[in-house]
Amino acid sequence: MIQATTRTSELLELSEARTAHNYHPLPVVIEHAEGAWVTDVDGNRFIDCLSGYSALNFGHGHPDIIAAARDQLDRLTLTSRAFVHDQFAAFCAELGDLTGKEMVLPMNTGAEAVETAVKVARKWGYDVKGVPAGQANIIVAENNFHGRTTTIVSFSTDSVARDGFGPYTPGFTIVPYGSADAIRDAIDANTVAVLIEPIQGEAGVLVPPDGFLSDVRRICSENNVLFIADEIQSGLGRTGDTFACDHEGVVPDMYLLGKALGGGVVPVSAVCADTNVLGVLQPGTHGSTFGGNPLACAVARSVVALLNTGEFQARAKQLGAHLHERLGKLVGQGVVAVRGRGLWAGVDIDPALGTGRDICEALMRRGVLAKDTHGSTIRLAPPIVITQEDLDHAIDMLAEVVHERRAKS
Ligand SMILES: Cc1ncc(COP(=O)(O)O)c(C=O)c1O
Repeated sequence: MIQATTRTSELLELSEARTAHNYHPLPVVIEHAEGAWVTDVDGNRFIDCLSGYSALNFGHGHPDIIAAARDQLDRLTLTSRAFVHDQFAAFCAELGDLTGKEMVLPMNTGAEAVETAVKVARKWGYDVKGVPAGQANIIVAENNFHGRTTTIVSFSTDSVARDGFGPYTPGFTIVPYGSADAIRDAIDANTVAVLIEPIQGEAGVLVPPDGFLSDVRRICSENNVLFIADEIQSGLGRTGDTFACDHEGVVPDMYLLGKALGGGVVPVSAVCADTNVLGVLQPGTHGSTFGGNPLACAVARSVVALLNTGEFQARAKQLGAHLHERLGKLVGQGVVAVRGRGLWAGVDIDPALGTGRDICEALMRRGVLAKDTHGSTIRLAPPIVITQEDLDHAIDMLAEVVHERRAKS
């Protein structure tokens, strides 16, 4: 059983003293990592079952990604978009090919990709659809999580994320997640886009009903409305497909990508769409000093190359089936419900056994790092490179924690 030692306690205290308290991390201080494993400052090893909220889909320190970063660090790291660099065209073409889209607009964080999509959809509405100036609206889902900017929290239904940050940006209509009828009813002449997560991660890995994504696609096409899929957490191999939308063979008008696109090395996000959509931007209308920088492009190219092999998607599918089969057996044994797809699960713990945080702390003491969300749910999203043996060990530890707590309750 892992115990916090003086070194860990000291560093935790120091971190708390000099940072804003906008996070409540588990009390572990990580020093290095490899693959699915991290090691703390006291030499304790843990299986990483969060993967930086899916930013580490390919594991810590994937050799191809690190080699691409190292090589680029020695050559060129930043030009700004005022000049063109030699990685840019290849990155846009390769990511464009992966998504099947004609154009790529690189940014840095996920929230910036979402902001970019909101701006592009509005401009498309005015310039192409003919929506009267200032009247565009975008349909979003309850319990969404798209980031933390003032516009994005304006359409959040999570009071912790939203309250106290007004005045809020208007122009968003919120409908229940998973209801195609609600989307159809909410569309009016000024609707420019439907923005949804194909699987809601932060909400607890909520998978919509079968057919929902296809229905959204059809409704958007019928009404000349853009379908924007926020695949920042669900995309790039996590669900067993390149994109979570692939599960229903659905192609949105805009893919929003982030997290794993940066290979766990640098923040890289992107909006991918065809020319009739992204073509509405002209020089000066949008930008970012760091968006599409040489280091980001080189790293993201190595990520795209890994995805082009198909190995990670297949592995997430195969290990995911195993994960869900095993987790399913815990339902009724201290676990109330399990959701998810591929190597991604939301596990609702019986609230009588403790909070999600309690369970995550107990798991941490057994050498497994996971993250709670919304009270009693814990999320499992290990790096796709995890071995089945390590995955089994993590699930064994979860089973042990809930069984022990059941026995005591
Ligand atoms: C679906 C989704 N969209 C957007 C974001 C925001 O990404 P970032 O934290 O990089 O701004 C997140 C982050 O968790 C996310 O899960």
